[in-house]
Amino acid sequence: MTGASKPAILIARAVFPEVESRLRAHFEVETTPAGMVWSPDELVQRLQGKSGVLTTGGERIDAGLLAACPTLRIAANLAVGYNNFDLAAMSVAGVLGTNAPDVLTETTADFGFALLMATARRVTESERFLRAGQWNQWSLDLFAGAEVHGTTLGILGMGRIGRAIARRGAHGFGMQVLYHNRSRLDEASEADCRARYVSKAELLAQADHLVLVLPYTPEAHHSIGAAEIAQMKPSATLVNIARGGIVDDAALARALRERRIAAAGLDVFEGEPRVHPDLLNVPNVVLTPHIASATLPTRMAMAMLAADNLIAYLTEGRALTPLNPDVIKAAT
Ligand code: GLV
Repeated sequence: MTGASKPAILIARAVFPEVESRLRAHFEVETTPAGMVWSPDELVQRLQGKSGVLTTGGERIDAGLLAACPTLRIAANLAVGYNNFDLAAMSVAGVLGTNAPDVLTETTADFGFALLMATARRVTESERFLRAGQWNQWSLDLFAGAEVHGTTLGILGMGRIGRAIARRGAHGFGMQVLYHNRSRLDEASEADCRARYVSKAELLAQADHLVLVLPYTPEAHHSIGAAEIAQMKPSATLVNIARGGIVDDAALARALRERRIAAAGLDVFEGEPRVHPDLLNVPNVVLTPHIASATLPTRMAMAMLAADNLIAYLTEGRALTPLNPDVIKAAT
């Protein structure tokens, strides 16, 4: 294959050199410098003449972009979530979308538990106190937090990551696991993660620790707002590793300040990378910058899966993890 006959692609956010090399073996590759995030208009410009794009959850692929980028055939997200894709518009435009599921499940569940533990046991709040030189004496109730083992773990959204968190809670921490999801798991899956299906109202009322792992959809917007927080125990912990927008961040900041729930751990935010200023000013919240899947092996696997989807589709007309496979059928 000569250089000139290779399809052209854009890597819309800097990736590891190994991923770039793999793509360069098949494509004319335009990269994005480290630290650079394209505006929607710049993205459209960069995509002129490109057949594929490797995106993160931060690049929106919608009808406007698709109309302005007629050569585009595939957008490969290196995230499992794909609320940055308007899949219906992509199908109409004949553009395949792929995501990066499975390779991040256990790593993300580990982080969900890390955030739960840090939040319940006040790890970052107590570290800030120590670093500020405020630790002058030990006292019996110094940073006394919430118990985790043997308590009730609630999970909202019971996909692969939800189930992996449930297994950690049930098998590792002897927790009673309750979940709510759009659809109930089959009996074998419920038995595997020792989880019991309940209504959303019961989940909110019973959970000592509530972890959110549902995908973002317009219907899921503000699934947890003031009304839902009011149904939770005042001693409860809330953890969001799903997507910004699932929690009403302003309402949560108010509830934390007024101690209507004990604490929250947030890895995702409405309008990130901006964080609601009120959240920055309450002590009982642990804040992390969207890093739930961030170990080097997992981020490498996610990026390689996105690269392999681009290669499989643009060289062989197939995909490993297609989101709208109707596009593949229509093209063959
Ligand atoms: C990260 O948030 C992902 O969706 O992979």
